Amino acid sequence: MERTLSIIKPNATIDNNIGNIIKKFEDEGLRIAACKLTVLSKEKAEGFYIEHKERPFFGELVSFMTSGPVVIMALEGENAVDKNRQIMGATNPAEAAEGTLRKLYAKSIGENAVHGSDSLQSAEREINYFFDKNEVISRF
Ligand code: CMP
Repeated sequence: MERTLSIIKPNATIDNNIGNIIKKFEDEGLRIAACKLTVLSKEKAEGFYIEHKERPFFGELVSFMTSGPVVIMALEGENAVDKNRQIMGATNPAEAAEGTLRKLYAKSIGENAVHGSDSLQSAEREINYFFDKNEVISRF
């Protein structure tokens, strides 16, 4: 059993695709262990994406991620980190496989509908970044 962090990004919440995206996670066997709808502050988004601080797209990324509501979730299940990445598809929707969330709901590499942790180590940091321990409810 693993946990991973998922964010439904502003383009997908504004397009009213929150339910469609959560349904896909549940259909694939992931369970929601924590969930909130919020609008990120600039400081919170910058801290979350700190590893990308020197990238040319950092300003654009922070500006997009603070542009509207996001749904932040801890998802749990067997092999949750990799499973979530398969469900999301490639970062760039032009390269995402048919049926993946990014193929279905992303607009571009920046406005790519969902974020998911890239490793177990990142998942732990990212879940702790957004949730207190008592807000994460294991159902296994
Ligand atoms: P995410 O999984 O949230 O992690 C970092 C994000 O940076 C990534 O998804 C993309 O949305 C964004 N990103 C990566 N490469 C680029 C790029 N070349 N231009 C704009 N945004 C990018």
